[in-house]
Formats: sequence, structure tokens, C-alpha cells
Amino acid sequence: KYTSYISMIAGAVALSAIIPAGISAASAASMNFEIAFNQTETHPQFKALQMFAEGLKERTNGEYTAEVFPNELLGAQKETVEMTQTGTIAMSVAAASLLESWNSDFSVFNLPYLFNSIEDQKKVLNNPEIVGDLYKSVSDQSVIVLGSFTAGARSVYLKDRFVKTPADLAGQKIRVMQSDTNVQMMKHMGGVGIAMGQGEVYTAIQTGVLNGGENNEIVFSSLKHAEVAPHFSNTRHLMIPDYLVMNVDLYNGLPENIKTIVNEELAKAFDYEFDAFAEEAAKARADAEKVGAKFSDDVDMEAFRASVKPLIDSKLTNDVTKTIYQKIEALR
Ligand code: GCU
Repeated sequence: KYTSYISMIAGAVALSAIIPAGISAASAASMNFEIAFNQTETHPQFKALQMFAEGLKERTNGEYTAEVFPNELLGAQKETVEMTQTGTIAMSVAAASLLESWNSDFSVFNLPYLFNSIEDQKKVLNNPEIVGDLYKSVSDQSVIVLGSFTAGARSVYLKDRFVKTPADLAGQKIRVMQSDTNVQMMKHMGGVGIAMGQGEVYTAIQTGVLNGGENNEIVFSSLKHAEVAPHFSNTRHLMIPDYLVMNVDLYNGLPENIKTIVNEELAKAFDYEFDAFAEEAAKARADAEKVGAKFSDDVDMEAFRASVKPLIDSKLTNDVTKTIYQKIEALR
């Protein structure tokens, strides 16, 4: 029965007449949250969400469950975020860039060279004093940000060369995530940013539409980018989070005790993922090397840092973004 609901979602058939929005009902008293995920089952975010699902089921005696759909099974991130807005599914993992179009203040977390480490990122991203208002601010877009995962540090990789300085990126078409900050960032870094969804990148590099991409080691290896753009230069220019977004009406409609369980189990899941990421990234690097990828540390980080400084200044335009930025700076 459940499988057939999902095939209906995949076929974009209207579900509203059949099941309540964002959930599938296994029986009258139970609720299943469908969670869209665009990466593989080996990713630490997938494992963390599975932990959440187990905790939720156990603590509600099976009344509330969650199911994670990996590998873009429910669609690319941009689409699954929209499906969360409309309540077709309950939750989606969303790269930080995608939230910028709802509230431009989110751009503060999309800025290059913002954090020095995953540890610093962890201190900020799930700290309600710093992010609480921002995460609730998108309720007018029908979603709430329940919290944040790390997505490690992103670096540039190219088909046929390493990069050391911004000049080495001249004319290179690099895929970036779909936000103004990301497109601008690549321009400042010396290259040409082409915005597209993650699932299209492999073929675009293979066919020459792109010269390369920028991402963390896990995506580089698990989505096989290492095969088509094997020169990975450790620019480590971006540490953006992945948010877990939920349909806000669905969240607000939960009984208080269930909300508490959801929040507590998610807090454990986020913590686990932040702690597991670095080890998984190291494994991914080793896997990429096995298929012939090469990693270069010969990168003039200061030159890249200087190149994006005007972008940072141009995005910190109000008190919300300035205050968050200052709190992050204080950690460095
Ligand atoms: C990271 C991130 C994803 C995102 C992706 C991208 O891997 O974890 O959420 O989709 O980058 O580049 O689009």
C-alpha cells in the first residue's frame, strides 16, 4: 500500500484526496513523514535521518514514523523543497543556497570562507540564540527550518587542471548551487558559475557543458564526479550547511509531546552527523583516489579569500546578517 503512495508522488499525481498532506497514513491513528534526500544511503545525513526515524518510532510506539528517500527518488532538491512547501511531502534536506530566494538573510550562511572548521559551524548552526528567528522566518513560505547538518568544506575540481590562484579559473565553467551568492562567488573567484541541480553535474562535465564543479569530498566520490573531473584543488572556500525543512502547517499541527520528541530526536541526529562527517569525508577522499582522482594542497588560499571579500561586504546589508556574521567572526 505504502509503495503505491510513493509511486503516485513520483508520478506527480495529486494526493490530497487520498491522504493528508505531507504524510501517508498507514492507519487512522498513525502518521508517516516522508523525507526527501538527494544523496546516497552511505551519506552521514542519511544515517542520521535513519536514526531519527528509529527514535521517533520507538518513542511514539510506532504511531509516528519517518521514511527517508535517498538518491533524488522524490526529485531534485529544488523540487523536493517545493513539495515540502505545498505539503506533498513532510520534509526535505535542502542546501543552504536554496533558502536564499525565500529570505535573503539566509545568504549569510552561503558566504565563502565563513567558518574555519566543522566544530565552529556546529557551535552556530543549531544554536537557537543565533539562528532561532532566522529558521522560523520562512513560515510565510510554508516551511520551518528544523535544524542543520554540516556539508563539510567545498573545493573546486576540474577536468584537466589544478588551480592555485583565481587566475587559474579564468574561463572555466564551474557548476554552482542555485543562488545569487553562489553565482557571484564563482565570478569573484575567477571562474564562471553555472547554476544547476546536483544530479545534472556528472553528465554536464562529461559532455563538456562544464569544466568542473565544486563540492565536498563525499559528493565528489559518491556521485562519481571524481571520474570526470579528477583534479581536486583544496580551495575549501565554502562551508554551507544543509537544512532540514518541514512543512510548517504539518509541524504546527503536531501535538506538543510529539513536537518535543521530533525536536529531541533531530537534535541527536544533527549532533551525530556533525561528528561523523570528517571521517566520512576522509574515506570518500581515499575512494576517489582509488579511481584515479588527485588532490592538490598547492592553493593560494589568501588570494581566494581576498577575491571574495567584496562579495561578503555586499551581502551583509542589515542587522540580522551583520549580527550573525559578527558572532561567527568572534569564534575564529
Ligand atoms: C552538498 C550538499 C547537498 C547539495 C549539494 C549540491 O552535497 O550536501 O545538499 O545538494 O551539495 O551541491 O547541490
